[in-house]
Amino acid sequence: MRNKSTIIFSVIVLLLLGVIGGGVWVTLNNRQTQPFLDKQTPDQAKAYTLSEVAQHASRDDCWAIISDDVYDLTEFINRHPGGDEILRACGTDATTLFNSRQTQGGQSVGSGTPHSQAAMEQLAKLKIGTVNKR
Ligand code: HEM
Repeated sequence: MRNKSTIIFSVIVLLLLGVIGGGVWVTLNNRQTQPFLDKQTPDQAKAYTLSEVAQHASRDDCWAIISDDVYDLTEFINRHPGGDEILRACGTDATTLFNSRQTQGGQSVGSGTPHSQAAMEQLAKLKIGTVNKR
C-alpha cells in the first residue's frame, strides 16, 4: 500500500517537473527571438531612400525627413497645433522647416521660431527609420 502511494506521488512530482521545465524552456526561447522580432518593426531600424519618402506626400500619407531620420506624420496632422502648415513637410526633407519654422528661402512660417522641446518629443514618437542616402 505504502509502495503504491510512493509510486503515485513520484509520478505526480515528475509530471509537475516536466510542466515547469517546459514552461522555462519556452520562456527562454522566446527571450532569444524577441529582440530579433523587435528589430523587424518599422521603428528606428529601416533605411529609406529620398525617392521612397517622396512617394508619401499627401495628407493621408505623409512622411518627412528631419535631420536624417524618417517620420510618418500622417496620424499627427490633425493634432498639429500649427494646423495645415505641417503639410509643407510631406514627402520632403523638412529639417529646416521643422527646426526653424522658416522656409529654405528664409520666409517665416507662423512665428518663424524653432519648435519647442515638447514638439521634438512628439516628433520622436513618429520615427519610422533613417535616410539611406545612396
Ligand atoms: C515641418 C513642417 C512644420 C511646420 C511648417 C510647422 C509649423 C508650425 C506652426 C506655424 C505652428 C504655430 C506656432 C508658431 O507659429 O510658432 C506650429 C506649432 C507646433 N507644431 Fe509645428 N510645424 C511643422 C511640423 C511639426 C511637427 C513634425 C511636429 C511634431 C511632431 C510639430 C509640433 C508642433 C507643436 C507641438 C506646436 C505648438 C508650439 C510648439 O510647441 O512649438 N510641428 N507648427
